[in-house]
Amino acid sequence: MLSIAISLHLLSAVIWVGGMFFAYMALRPAAASVLEPPLRLELWRQVFSRFFPWVSLSIVILFVTGLWMSWAMFGGLGNSPVYVHIMLTLAIIMAGLFGWLKHKPVKALAKAIVEENWQKGGEILVAIRKIIAINLSLGLLLVAIASGGRFL
Ligand code: HEM
Repeated sequence: MLSIAISLHLLSAVIWVGGMFFAYMALRPAAASVLEPPLRLELWRQVFSRFFPWVSLSIVILFVTGLWMSWAMFGGLGNSPVYVHIMLTLAIIMAGLFGWLKHKPVKALAKAIVEENWQKGGEILVAIRKIIAINLSLGLLLVAIASGGRFL
């Protein structure tokens, strides 16, 4: 059972953190260089609406399998090593930022597109980019700590 938990845990981490890396490092600069604001904003609206359900599912799986492994491997969070607590803390911050992003700025972006307010849409996209930059940095840090932690 533990092998299923760790596989699901890592697949979810790859989907979430890898998806953010691709969006931020490859798609963002490419879209900015070839698309005018109306098309660029619509592209991002569609990208978010397709990617976010996968992120939501990944978050559920990460927390369920993470808590399950902490119980099965260490006898619960109380006995888990420091790197697991760091992982849990960073994961809570990341999930909170994602939840806020999904329910506030991304909805505001959709509204700006419907109203054809490209100026406002551009400002919202800048805010979204900053949140994704923070979550991507936390995600990469988390993976480094989680994978190296057991060897410390
Ligand atoms: C963004 C969220 C998360 C990411 C990206 C993530 C990533 C990882 C990675 C890369 C590993 C290392 C696997 C290995 O080296 O074999 C791991 C293991 C683990 N994670 Fe997470 N994790 C996340 C959330 C959580 C949460 C919420 C918990 C809950 C306590 C958790 C608990 C664990 C445990 C117990 C292990 C096994 C530790 C070990 O093998 O010594 N993780 N995680």
